[in-house]
Amino acid sequence: MAYTPKFSKPVLTARIPSPPFGEFKDRHIVSYDEYVKTGGYQALRKALTMTPDAVVEEVKKSQLRGRGGAGFPTGLKWTFLPKPGPDGSGGQRYLAINADESEPGTFKDRLLMDFDPHLVLEGIAIACYACRIPTAFFYIRGEYHHQAKVLENAIKEAYEHGVFGKQGLMSGSATQNPFNGGKWAVDCHLHRGAGAYICGEETALLEGLEGKRGWPRNKPPFPAIKGLFGKPTIINNVETLAHLPSILENGSAWFATMGTESTFKGGAPSYGTKLMGVSGHVNRPGVFEFDLGIKLRDLVEQYCGGMRNGKKYKGAIPGGVSMGILGPDQFDAELDFDIGRKYNVLGLGTACPTIFDEDTDMVAVARNISRFFKHESCGQCTPCREGSGWLYQLMTRIEEGGGRTKDLDLALEIATSMGSMPGTTICGLADGNNWAVRTIMNKYWDEFTSRVKPTFVPVKVTVGASA
Ligand SMILES: Cc1cc2nc3c(=O)[nH]c(=O)nc-3n(C[C@H](O)[C@H](O)[C@H](O)COP(=O)(O)O)c2cc1C
Ligand code: SF4
Repeated sequence: MAYTPKFSKPVLTARIPSPPFGEFKDRHIVSYDEYVKTGGYQALRKALTMTPDAVVEEVKKSQLRGRGGAGFPTGLKWTFLPKPGPDGSGGQRYLAINADESEPGTFKDRLLMDFDPHLVLEGIAIACYACRIPTAFFYIRGEYHHQAKVLENAIKEAYEHGVFGKQGLMSGSATQNPFNGGKWAVDCHLHRGAGAYICGEETALLEGLEGKRGWPRNKPPFPAIKGLFGKPTIINNVETLAHLPSILENGSAWFATMGTESTFKGGAPSYGTKLMGVSGHVNRPGVFEFDLGIKLRDLVEQYCGGMRNGKKYKGAIPGGVSMGILGPDQFDAELDFDIGRKYNVLGLGTACPTIFDEDTDMVAVARNISRFFKHESCGQCTPCREGSGWLYQLMTRIEEGGGRTKDLDLALEIATSMGSMPGTTICGLADGNNWAVRTIMNKYWDEFTSRVKPTFVPVKVTVGASA
């Protein structure tokens, strides 16, 4: 089924003029007052007139899928929490907001935190209400100093105006929706990470919040049952949460007017808009908001000013290096959640494409990516710890001209065997390494074979008649 892209009005960036809707210089941090004047916190007020279960149901019906990388349905994830007690309270449980944003080439959550922090905070308040969560922890990557300051200020404003805290808007409204004796309120804390990629993985993030080394946990138990400090915990991405106010305000049917249906029979749709941060060899990189399903070619040619220096497109990482690569013949790929099944990549990931032009050395790209994964492996699982080192050494040897034909098979064998999908590792970091190296090798095979020498096969030499 051919997809005709729809270009809805910006939703997440409505208060942030962003290319192609405006220029960077027009942007400024939206304060609490400005946010409220432009309709902010109305969705939260509306949510508070509903029961928490009705809010969960509305989000489920919208079929919103997580924007952190895996595309898991948000409403469904929330239903995995244990059922509330007779007083309607769920007891101590947590929301962890994933603002680690460490995936190479990904810089879309940052835009929201930079300029419209209250949109995210309103989403947090709605999620906490729906899931009966009294405590939210914002986990922000260490390098985001400025964004942490912006958020700290916005959280303070939200406390002052009664969004969070005991005397809050929500504690007042909770009398209409009584649970926990009507005393329910939300606290929101900001936690700054120390700058490790692995801390974006949800269970490593929880370890980090507990003050420990960011090592992913074995699952099950899943965080919704046993998460932060052993309590039920929901982990959601910043952009996912930022979608909640507009869904609550306009309804799930409105959300489904944006984006696209799945092209697979019975496949889950890709509804809504998506922030897409484009980098690499284009004339106008930046963060854009489009309906899911826009073609990569349209994004590059119509909105990013085309390929830099008039060069030809050679390939693109769809959304973070972990997703693998879209090859030279996949420029027309639709950026939606079907992309993995259609174009032999791991998935849409963060939908922040990095574009490569015809001059790019793909062997060097593979080496660079494998270096990243080797550096970021937390070291718990042997296939990831050792395999990432081996892949990096092989890619380096091939790039430097010392590679042998058998190195290609060896690299593919190592890559294929590492990851949570083949069932050999605890977390998905190794799958990212696997898909990145394997798809680059497969889609640019000639570049790799032209760089290696035939494997030396020892030959038995016979000297003299008696030998
Ligand atoms: C190695 C690794 C790094 C990740 N980094 C991030 C990240 O920086 N931000 C993020 O939101 N999700 C990241 N994820 C995905 C999270 O584990 C989790 O699926 C996500 O935060 C859930 O939120 P969502 O359902 O709203 O998308 C990462 C996953 C892995 C395996
Ligand atoms: S797959 Fe890699 S990063 Fe993930 S837990 Fe295992 S060693 Fe750590």
